[in-house]
Amino acid sequence: MTADRVRAALAGAALALAGAAAAEDDYGGLPEGEGREWVYFSCQHCHSLRTVTNQRFSRRVWDEVLDWMVEEQGMVPLDPEIRAEILDYLAEALGAEG
Ligand code: HEC
Repeated sequence: MTADRVRAALAGAALALAGAAAAEDDYGGLPEGEGREWVYFSCQHCHSLRTVTNQRFSRRVWDEVLDWMVEEQGMVPLDPEIRAEILDYLAEALGAEG
């Protein structure tokens, strides 16, 4: 009885660890970088993260994309600090010249 319970608890813990590792690894294909989790949580309600990871834009264009998401696509305006982190991340991780 007790051994079964221990085994079940261990199996549960292993599954939880595997789940955490998967989320950690993948982030929907977002490249590593500071602020990644904000993009992960803010940008996939309406479209896949591929819509984001497929793009390479300059900081100026990403800035406009964020405004465009709010003004035309119905995104809830981001907290200014989080918006700044997201913009830094996008310009770094998915950047382009110009
Ligand atoms: C409320 C819904 C919503 C949220 C949240 C949202 N988007 Fe979008 N986004 C859209 C829609 C709708 C389109 C497609 C617009 C079109 O193609 O006409 C789109 C398109 C895009 C595109 C494609 C632009 C192109 O040139 O094809 C990019 C890049 C993008 N979104 C980035 C983001 C990022 C980054 C975030 C998070 C900060 C985000 N979106 C969050 C609705 C949203």
